[in-house]
Amino acid sequence: MSGTSNALAIDGRRFQRRLAELAAVGAIEGTEGCARLALTDEDRHGRELVVTWMRDLGLHVSVDGVGNVVGVLGADTVAGAVLTGSHIDTVATGGRFDGNLGVLAGLEVLETVIDRGVDTGRPLAVGFFTNEEGSRFAPDMLGSLVYAGGLQLEDALDIVAIDGAVLGDELARIGFRGAAPVPGPVPHAFVEYHIEQGPVLEREEIDVGAVIGVQGISWTRFAFTGQSNHAGTTPMSYRRDAGYVAMRVAAFVRELVAEVGPPQVGTVGRIELHPNLVNVVAATATITVDVRNTDDDVLRSVEERIARFVADVAGGEGVSVEAETLARFAPVAFDDRVIDLVEVVAKELGNTTMRLPAGAGHDAQMLARVCPAGMIFVPSVHGISHNPAEHTDPADIEAGANVLLHTMLRLAATDFGDHR
Ligand code: GLV
Ligand code: MN
Ligand code: MN
Repeated sequence: MSGTSNALAIDGRRFQRRLAELAAVGAIEGTEGCARLALTDEDRHGRELVVTWMRDLGLHVSVDGVGNVVGVLGADTVAGAVLTGSHIDTVATGGRFDGNLGVLAGLEVLETVIDRGVDTGRPLAVGFFTNEEGSRFAPDMLGSLVYAGGLQLEDALDIVAIDGAVLGDELARIGFRGAAPVPGPVPHAFVEYHIEQGPVLEREEIDVGAVIGVQGISWTRFAFTGQSNHAGTTPMSYRRDAGYVAMRVAAFVRELVAEVGPPQVGTVGRIELHPNLVNVVAATATITVDVRNTDDDVLRSVEERIARFVADVAGGEGVSVEAETLARFAPVAFDDRVIDLVEVVAKELGNTTMRLPAGAGHDAQMLARVCPAGMIFVPSVHGISHNPAEHTDPADIEAGANVLLHTMLRLAATDFGDHR
């Protein structure tokens, strides 16, 4: 069994160089951040760069039907390998670490193992999954969901983006509609390294988080249709104002979340009015509602209360409603054996640790459907993420990558029994 000797460590400078090089693709001028929405040209260039690095390391690279890319060391399949990875797509105003950190840390781990000639016992692999963010195509974690068999490939390929593009066409256009089958081969175990994206580790002055699971996620798009009319001449009692209904719902989400209390969160991140003019009552309004909770029963009651409010306020205004579920994932608990291992390894390497749930969605929650899975978190400065100002200190980044390295080696030596 491999130990967690400090002698075996990743190369922090090489890791930072790759992070900077990938961040230069789709860089948002004047910031440290990136804009590489899934399956855009920027995503394509980021993908090509990472694939080049995988090939340079001599990994066996495969691309599956939904564009997930996996590089394996010591075998030609992920089946039975210890897999790590994350995503390299970003939100439009993304940081350089969300997702990218985990993918490049995986490369760094594999390069370290190659350089040092470590006998890992099992193959190791690193991958990146398509459209984790879900900003352009819903749902989020789409590639890993397909990989784990939770969404049929044909259904995924038909998904339409917020800009009208079709996922399958975009994959083909950027050259990433691959031949490897989905659902993908079942790994021995999966561990994902990610920034926390919230304030907990920094506030508690903890180096490394052992992630216990991911909270439930619910995304709904509400489209309201009323009637455009003159802003000056239309008496208030005559109005069928889609904008008014949308804004009442947006305010209600915030008030409801306050009433339910933590850990409930809720966001109206997108709102579109038509025709969006100063002197015209809005004919249509579209909003997205993102609500999350670690308790699925509470989350369900929040969804129900929002649906009732929408029906009441729209009905009162004579506005029709169409509701579309964009994403709905129940809370996920990670494998205790992986959580324990992350904690033990992090401590052995001299880090302070704590257990915490993930607030964001992650590819690991999909891989958890098919194999023992877990995650490693490092602190986010001021808890800022989905923002170009997202930052994590280089020393924390390096510490987390070493936890990943030794966790992967220990996972390779762990017998999980038959988990299929
Ligand atoms: C996506 O990863 C999200 O949590 O919004
Ligand atoms: Mn992420
Ligand atoms: Mn994200």
